[in-house]
Amino acid sequence: MRSHYCGGIDESHIDQDVTLCGWVHRRRDHGGVIFLDLRDRDGISQVVFDPDTPDSFSLAEKVRSEYVIQVTGRVRRRPSGTENANMPTGQVEVLGTALTILNAAATPPFPLDEHVDVGEDVRLRYRFIDLRRPEMLNRLRFRSRVTSYIRNFLDRQEFMDVETPILTRATPEGARDYLVPSRTHEGSFFALPQSPQLFKQLLMVSGVDRYYQIAKCFRDEDLRADRQPEFTQIDIEASFINEDILMGLTETMIRDLFRDVLQVELPEFPRMPHAEAMQRYGSDKPDLRIPLELIDVADLVASVDFKVFAGPANDAKGRVAALRVPKGGVISRKQIDDYTKYVGIYGAKGLAYIKVNDLGKGAEGLQSPIIKFLGNDVALAIIERVAAEDGDIVFFGADKTTVVNEALGALRVRIGHDLKMLTKEWAPMWVVDFPMFEETSDGGLHAIHHPFTAPSCTPEQLIASPEAALSRAYDMVLNGTELGGGSIRIHDEAMQQTVFRILGIDEEEARAKFGFLLDALKFGCPPHGGLAFGLDRLVMLMTGATSIRDVIAFPKTQSANCLMTQAPGLVDEQQLRELHIRLRKPSVKQVPDSIGNVEPSE
Ligand code: AMO
Ligand code: AMP
Repeated sequence: MRSHYCGGIDESHIDQDVTLCGWVHRRRDHGGVIFLDLRDRDGISQVVFDPDTPDSFSLAEKVRSEYVIQVTGRVRRRPSGTENANMPTGQVEVLGTALTILNAAATPPFPLDEHVDVGEDVRLRYRFIDLRRPEMLNRLRFRSRVTSYIRNFLDRQEFMDVETPILTRATPEGARDYLVPSRTHEGSFFALPQSPQLFKQLLMVSGVDRYYQIAKCFRDEDLRADRQPEFTQIDIEASFINEDILMGLTETMIRDLFRDVLQVELPEFPRMPHAEAMQRYGSDKPDLRIPLELIDVADLVASVDFKVFAGPANDAKGRVAALRVPKGGVISRKQIDDYTKYVGIYGAKGLAYIKVNDLGKGAEGLQSPIIKFLGNDVALAIIERVAAEDGDIVFFGADKTTVVNEALGALRVRIGHDLKMLTKEWAPMWVVDFPMFEETSDGGLHAIHHPFTAPSCTPEQLIASPEAALSRAYDMVLNGTELGGGSIRIHDEAMQQTVFRILGIDEEEARAKFGFLLDALKFGCPPHGGLAFGLDRLVMLMTGATSIRDVIAFPKTQSANCLMTQAPGLVDEQQLRELHIRLRKPSVKQVPDSIGNVEPSE
């Protein structure tokens, strides 16, 4: 139907006849001449109709925004002074000789101009129109280039693309499962995979040796800007390798991808132990673009009268840390109040600070609501510890270690952005030496990655002090976002049983849930390991999008529904009956939670 894409017309086509198809982006009537901006996925061309071709001219008068048309005409140079340097096709236009209206269009619910501010709910409701916008279409095109680049890379490295089931059993990755009722097995449910974790390990037992998959994963968890209930992983597993080989290979993949697709040369990927990341940045995914660090001051405040500080300073599970912000003295009182509210989200009960006005005057030169509690000597010792200078501000967090890390870790990032302190555009890194387990609120232990991660110690050491054990897991972090994570796996049945036991999964439960894995470990399982990248997050970072919804064609909202198809939806009685499901009576009261989810109350 067409000879060229609209975006592909340039000076090399002058005097040629072309046929274009697309959508009418804009129509302008200029004293007897009609201009149509015709748009397709490649760009926009200007088409001109004049009354010399009366049939086409009168049709052109009828078309409206988003009509689908076909145009034939001759490419010519735009008259001097009417060129548009901002458009790739801006030097030329097509003098239309024939026009066919292929389809009319109702007035779109929002204009497709890039600069028009439209609510995301409207965009999601009419996603098929939203995706017409060049900005969105370009992101989809970019995503397609990324997946194709990665497939090529992994194919060249002799990885085998294997599909794994979507209807399966639960894989513990820490979120709730999406369940699918079985019609043929009354009362039984499939779980949608939270990741292909167990299948890829079984493929190693089968001798696949190097596996990858661009895999859909499903997790029913609280959503944020970088989380969707249904997302895509670049999932990788290999046998007879160690962490250095795997990290090296995937680092090369990401580095090459950035170089070839984005023309960005990524800097070194430093490797940082988890404990160091938590201590210096309060986070297991530090944003290394921000040159601020947490500094421990517990020893300096352990014997002050100020309980707020002395309490956590003397508690093995507590932390007192300072965050020095160079030139932060400019932060206003009101802004400090805002930051205090902000750290409150993470459970901090306050945000003490010291402003350094004039160190030449000693403690007199400090301004702070807590010096009267700390005393001058302690205050000055802290200032010396954090190497603060005139014009700086120092913030403090004192609480349980987890609260201080989360609160000051988040404040560090917030202030880094607010004060425009970012030192570079890209800061990749690896976080390594994660603990195997973390304590749950009820005192039990929970696997930090998943229960198939190998510890870096013997089973005896693991049993003796599970809280202290480190794992062979690694996360790749880019600009404060966890891009991917993986580990060397347990390939020994006894070790796997030990880990299950530490997690409070007894033999019977382990058999029932993971019998097939335990069996597989018995029948010659090679040493193996792998990693999975979040494709959506990777594309979000590479395109500079602020939400992963912007790089997913048909995403869900924050409350996990699709505004376009209205999924999830009700089903009829007959379908429920076939699935052996009877619904509880609808609840009387429905209370939306903080992210807008409505869960029926009991
Ligand atoms: P993990 O749970 O760390 O590991 O997931 C790997 C990566 O997937 C991305 N990701 C998400 N992206 C969008 N929305 C979500 N809800 C979401 N959850 C996770 C992140 C994350 O780094 N099976 C292991 C991998 C392995 O051990 O090989 C796994 O799934 O970028
Ligand atoms: P208060 O004694 O509660 O008035 O607190 C004195 C100062 O300490 C105020 O600036 C509070 O914001 C701050 N503060 C209170 N609790 C904490 C805490 N857990 N961590 C850091 N600062 C705190």
